Amino acid sequence: MVVVDTPQRMQEIANKLKREGKSIGFVPTMGYLHEGHLSLVREARKHNDTVVVSIFVNPLQFAPNEDLDRYPRDFKRDEQLLENEQVDYLFYPTVENMYPQGFQSFVEVEKLTKPLEGRSRPTHFRGVTTVVLKLFNIVKPDKAYFGKKDAQQLLVIKRMVEDLNLDIDVVGMPIVREEDGLALSSRNKYLNEEERKQAVCLYKALLRAKELIETGVEESKKIIEEMEKAIKQYELAKIDYISINRLSDLEELQKIEKNNTLVSLAVFIGNTRLIDNMWF
Ligand code: PAJ
Repeated sequence: MVVVDTPQRMQEIANKLKREGKSIGFVPTMGYLHEGHLSLVREARKHNDTVVVSIFVNPLQFAPNEDLDRYPRDFKRDEQLLENEQVDYLFYPTVENMYPQGFQSFVEVEKLTKPLEGRSRPTHFRGVTTVVLKLFNIVKPDKAYFGKKDAQQLLVIKRMVEDLNLDIDVVGMPIVREEDGLALSSRNKYLNEEERKQAVCLYKALLRAKELIETGVEESKKIIEEMEKAIKQYELAKIDYISINRLSDLEELQKIEKNNTLVSLAVFIGNTRLIDNMWF
């Protein structure tokens, strides 16, 4: 595996691969890798000649009050994990190389970024789409892999790719979970032992929603009430939002729509904000 630390060098490599007719599969990450990330890497490895993974903690997608400075990092460990997965290139640029003096261009997906995460984190998706478009232009992937864990992010990226005519196949992959159901996340590292136990409440609430939907309950209000009850069993949990939205446009739904419904939530466990979701 080759570690590439400048956009210029990465772009030269990508151009050469293209000239040789090699397909490029790309997995963008912020590092501190876990099995969720690795599931994307394995899928990329299966379907492409060349696999590129990026590790870049993107300051643009963190608000000033958020956890940019303490976001967990362990480059040596990540490098080893990716080496083990037979990744070809690890793109690991610096903030200065990605956002040099004078940088002032941004990409914005308008409507899809307003509800859910966008309500709690109004500048977040502008940072995500800007960095992902830059990464796409640098790495030139044929296919790019994203987790459904960040459901809204996946939908926003798909929208951007379609709206801006990017010739990239965006692949959404299932959520990888711990044994008790907690979705894997780099931010789980922030949880102490008791918080870690109670963090399962997001999954428990989603299971409650699943149970209700499967027994024919349709009203969002009823389902959300029951999810709130499930979360309130856990004293360290504070709900940020619980929401039921149409997958295709993220409009709030009064009633479940078959195969087109996203049930999602964000919950603080102590000071750590976790998100999770299920697709129905
Ligand atoms: P990061 O949080 O590191 O996640 C990188 C990718 O891994 C995302 O597509 C995310 O959805 C996926 N992922 C995370 N946890 C997962 C899980 N438990 N199961 C399956 N997939 C999971 O998302 C970002 O980084 C950034 O916003 C990024 C797209 C890299 C732009 O900066």
